[in-house]
Amino acid sequence: MEKNIIIMNHPLIKHKITLLRKVETGTNEFRRLVEEIAMLMAYEALRDLPTQNVEIQTPIEKCLSPEISGKKLAVVPILRAGLGMVNGILSLVPSARVGHIGLYRDEVTHEPHEYYCKLPQPVGEREIIVLDPMLATGGSAVAAIDFIKQHGGKSIKFMCIIAAPEGLKKLSSAHPDIKIYCGNLDRELNKDAYICPGLGDAGDRIFGTK
Ligand code: PRP
Ligand code: URA
Repeated sequence: MEKNIIIMNHPLIKHKITLLRKVETGTNEFRRLVEEIAMLMAYEALRDLPTQNVEIQTPIEKCLSPEISGKKLAVVPILRAGLGMVNGILSLVPSARVGHIGLYRDEVTHEPHEYYCKLPQPVGEREIIVLDPMLATGGSAVAAIDFIKQHGGKSIKFMCIIAAPEGLKKLSSAHPDIKIYCGNLDRELNKDAYICPGLGDAGDRIFGTK
């Protein structure tokens, strides 16, 4: 496995992904699980945030204690399904900015098409985490990160809940400079480019549209 690919091995994440996959899991629980998994994954993905010591006064005495420093964080969900992960991360970092990239996959060619983009400025001075629960062919993730880089983004991570080997390979070779965090690496894509065993259509399950 490439060193920029981090597959989660925490039992809480594994357990919640199992619940997420179940066909009988309804919209309400699905949404809550996506949020919780995103929060647990963010804990891992933000492990390298820089800190600096600041002087504070406790009720007992003055001391030096670390606080987060460096670039400001921005999360950029890929619409729609990435939206489901945003609140999980904001619960850890409430001051993070939120950008949006709208992409949908053509049902026949599976190619991504962009329909919306609004990024927090200045993009180049932010630590960016791109969010999408599903990394299938990798087309959407590669297009989103191409786009963020064209707008000046430099420090970028990608976080997904389930990845297919095909998508991981495509994303890590198109953007070898970014770290990719996956909740689980699944077996393969089927002929309709759905992840197997996967969890079905993440957007439809989060928003209850099917
Ligand atoms: C899904 C998913 C990803 C994309 C992954 O979105 O949320 O964005 O497919 O597939 P890829 O790796 O092959 O590009 P979809 O296009 O179904 O749009 P939606 O989120 O609006 O449902
Ligand atoms: N998008 C999804 O939502 N699910 C898949 O399995 C593949 C792409």
